[in-house]
Amino acid sequence: MFFSKIYKSWEGIQEEKYKRILLGFDTDLLAKAFSGRVLDMGSGSGFFEKFLEEQGFNLSKWICLDPDSDMLKESGFQNMLGDGNRLPFKSKSFDCIVCLDSIHLIREDFFWVLKPEGFTLVSLFYNPGNLKEKRRFLKERMKNMETVKEFQIEGRENEIFILARKR
Ligand SMILES: C[S@@+](CC[C@H](N)C(=O)[O-])C[C@H]1O[C@@H](n2cnc3c(N)ncnc32)[C@H](O)[C@@H]1O
Repeated sequence: MFFSKIYKSWEGIQEEKYKRILLGFDTDLLAKAFSGRVLDMGSGSGFFEKFLEEQGFNLSKWICLDPDSDMLKESGFQNMLGDGNRLPFKSKSFDCIVCLDSIHLIREDFFWVLKPEGFTLVSLFYNPGNLKEKRRFLKERMKNMETVKEFQIEGRENEIFILARKR
């Protein structure tokens, strides 16, 4: 599939972003958010998980979900081949949803699987001309969430990061 063919060339760019996540958000809060049952929507090859494990996070309750079997087979984590538009989970069954650079590829709402008070970490890339539009898109998709912290970075790719909690 498309992403598995080009993803290798992105790994360095993605790692740069992951480092900024740890710098930009309170580490204790992230550890709390990541300690429960976590769903990584559009996880790709589990590169974020590999990075977090190297940083000492315990990912025993994580599920990596992606529709691309080639991406998933590279991940050594608990994987599920699936589509974010049709999730096979019970409502309010996750403590946290991570969705990095994938929300624009998923049409439907998926926060229905998040428990009330559950955390979500979402990111999306932008260019200088479309920052407002991308922020509006994220805010609309996350309208039932209360933002804990949001920031943007400019790097090899510009990125918006939002950590939020379900109301
Ligand atoms: C740009 S990659 C991001 C991968 C990873 N989250 C990261 O941090 O690098 C986007 C991922 O979204 C996945 N994706 C595409 N459509 C999806 C869908 N409907 N549901 C879930 N994931 C989807 C792709 O297969 C791809 O692995």
